Amino acid sequence: MSDLEATARALVAEGKGILAADESTGTIKKRFDSIGVESTDENRRAYRELLFTTEGAEEFISGVILFDETIRQSSSDGTPFPKLLASKGIIPGIKVDLGAKPLALAEGETITEGLDGLRERLEEYRGLGARFAKWRATYSIAADKPSEYCVWTNAHALARYAALCQEAGLVPIVEPEVLMDGDHTIEQSAKATGRVLQAVYVELHDQRVDYRGTLLKANMVLSGYDAPKRASVEEVAQVSLDVYYRHVPAAVPGIVFLSGGQSDEDATAHLNAMNKRGPHPWELSFSYGRALQAPALKAWAGKPENVAAAQQAYYRRAKFNGAARTGSYAPEMEKEAVPA
Ligand code: 13P
Repeated sequence: MSDLEATARALVAEGKGILAADESTGTIKKRFDSIGVESTDENRRAYRELLFTTEGAEEFISGVILFDETIRQSSSDGTPFPKLLASKGIIPGIKVDLGAKPLALAEGETITEGLDGLRERLEEYRGLGARFAKWRATYSIAADKPSEYCVWTNAHALARYAALCQEAGLVPIVEPEVLMDGDHTIEQSAKATGRVLQAVYVELHDQRVDYRGTLLKANMVLSGYDAPKRASVEEVAQVSLDVYYRHVPAAVPGIVFLSGGQSDEDATAHLNAMNKRGPHPWELSFSYGRALQAPALKAWAGKPENVAAAQQAYYRRAKFNGAARTGSYAPEMEKEAVPA
């Protein structure tokens, strides 16, 4: 097995998944605004330190995705974050795209930027301790969206990024995110997600990327958040699996889901329902941002005296999602008292 495949497989080890803590400066500001905390360098550092020093999180967390600012920061005792994570057996990763920008001549669609100079940036990140990377493309669903133009330009960019990562010895997490905003049906979501995945695997193949040394970060196939009738947990599991079975090669070690705008409990329940229907050709795991952090962020509220409560809230979600990796989560577990 190559080093890349070994890293990819370690990231989807049984019972474990990834914490996405790679919010860009703009996104983390939005999260902090929601709890009335000012987004300063120090507040962002303190918040990430809280997550990364949570005792026992490594039982359920295999890797953490960092942002450019965060990979250069240290804990209060001066330990660089990548080193701190590695000392707990957690693999550090890095978001390397520079964001989704308007796609020229395609109203309402985006193209993700960041390829220029990427080879040099990957080398620097590897030196800073990163062993995997992430690049996110986004697609909206509407009558005329996603367009073939948007599907193929983003697939091409994702594959260029993935090839550069493998050349640099980093596992690329390939993230084509079909957004679930809108009132579309789950069938429309399935069609768009299938189309996007098909194009991504054509480009990855044509650009010589070894699927075995990659992970797919996918959206679950859901009804639009504003749809009048929303699909149940069981329907979501069945329709999502049907799409991945048709479009994701078995050589891919794992699919690590994003949570999108789902509630933390829905994200756990959906993952659990899919794993209950296993075994599958790939590991089905998580790479959640909001669904792992929301309760912790709320409990913290920017106050040092709340750090322990916030860490408990994060540990608890990590544990439930760890259980969902093997289909052994039950919603009743949410009622358990928070351990002292
Ligand atoms: P969410 O789980 O909050 O969607 O974030 C995951 C992520 O990294 C999106 O790129």
